[in-house]
Amino acid sequence: MGTMKKISKLVFLCFPIVALLLPCNCNGSNEIKGMFVFGSSLVDNGNNNFLRNSRAKANYLPYGIDFPYGPSGRFTNGKNVIDLLCDKLSLPFVPPFGDPSTKGNRIIHGVNYASGASGILDDTGLLAGEVISLNEQLKNFEEVTLPELKAEVGKRSGEVLKKYLFVVGSGGNDYTLNYFLNLSDANVSLQFFTANLTKSLSTQLQKLYKLGGRKFVLMSLNPLGCYPVAKANYPSQIGCNKPLNRAAHLFNAQLKSLVGSIKPLMPASHLVYVNSYTIITHLITNPTSKGFKDASNPCCEMASINGLCKKDGETCEDRSRHVFFDGVHPTEAVNVLIANKAFDSNLKTEAYPINIKQLAMRY
Ligand SMILES: *[C@@H]1O[C@H](CO)[C@@H](O)[C@H](O)[C@H]1NC(C)=O
Ligand SMILES: *[C@@H]1O[C@H](CO)[C@@H](O)[C@H](O)[C@H]1NC(C)=O
Ligand SMILES: *[C@@H]1O[C@H](CO)[C@@H](O)[C@H](O)[C@H]1NC(C)=O
Ligand SMILES: *[C@@H]1O[C@H](CO)[C@@H](O)[C@H](O)[C@H]1NC(C)=O
Repeated sequence: MGTMKKISKLVFLCFPIVALLLPCNCNGSNEIKGMFVFGSSLVDNGNNNFLRNSRAKANYLPYGIDFPYGPSGRFTNGKNVIDLLCDKLSLPFVPPFGDPSTKGNRIIHGVNYASGASGILDDTGLLAGEVISLNEQLKNFEEVTLPELKAEVGKRSGEVLKKYLFVVGSGGNDYTLNYFLNLSDANVSLQFFTANLTKSLSTQLQKLYKLGGRKFVLMSLNPLGCYPVAKANYPSQIGCNKPLNRAAHLFNAQLKSLVGSIKPLMPASHLVYVNSYTIITHLITNPTSKGFKDASNPCCEMASINGLCKKDGETCEDRSRHVFFDGVHPTEAVNVLIANKAFDSNLKTEAYPINIKQLAMRY
């Protein structure tokens, strides 16, 4: 009895030392097997290429001019934030859901469902022709990918999915391509509309949780009023468009507080709110601090009021010193900054309440 006690004490004392001697995965990359990505053009990596009637496509030059595989449907000159997070986590690029070859073992590191011009609400983005709304994106995950993934890895989804990040970047178009265009007959206040939007998003996150999602990354809205296209559409104003920025700010405040308030409804979840609004606003007010020189003009020639680049149009020479590539989307240089901060910033004003590196290691 005494010996047993001594042995168990010895084992107990030694265990932490043994644990320390085991190889340490200090950057969390091995903890994450892949990513499921939902949202709008900021994270779309080619899904809209497969929509016949979509006018929100980026599958032509100068999009992708700095991307290793050229134009792909990504709405920027190089990598988007998702690609850069994959690099950080030592993961391959996440394939777009719309690509027919995204099946079998090609889905084991995740799938990207995002669609340019789409929103949280089903009627957002219809002006751009065809979009895949957030609800449809979730449905594609649930009805197509999930059964395939289970067949592929041979486990129950609960065990499999906790090793994946669920990244959601949606909501901007619900303002720019819906609320501010007065599309809805419902004449509602910004407060009401925003509360309805974040409530819808909360329901959507809970659905992903019920399906097995545990680790969530929520992207804030960017300063919509500072987009070059917003300025082009309101030429008389000085500086950024205040109503649009106010909307983004209000949405972000509610999204951030959702991180805490949704926890009791999703007890085993971990969430990170990435404040790209603040990161970009800082660049706009003080571009030279990070080596940028132009924070107001698009780098490419804009095609029209939708803010996309003109096909085969001109681009600026020093793309790494422009904040905006087209009228709406940041350059790769800005995406690098956002991904770096999302991954390992210790400032809660940038990644809240933890960063993605820490999220990767939570259980
Ligand atoms: C994380 O660690 C792995 C090995 O454990 C390494 O291959 C990878 O480059 C590291 N990633 C970063 C961003 O440090
Ligand atoms: C939407 O409605 C408001 C007030 O009713 C008006 O001021 C605004 O110009 C309208 N916007 C558009 C894009 O029609
Ligand atoms: C919307 O409601 C506001 C007040 O709630 C009112 O002033 C405005 O005229 C209404 N606009 C329309 C287009 O009905
Ligand atoms: C509120 O959200 C629901 C979806 O959750 C949507 O169907 C409805 O149109 C929204 N209402 C307004 C006024 O935007």
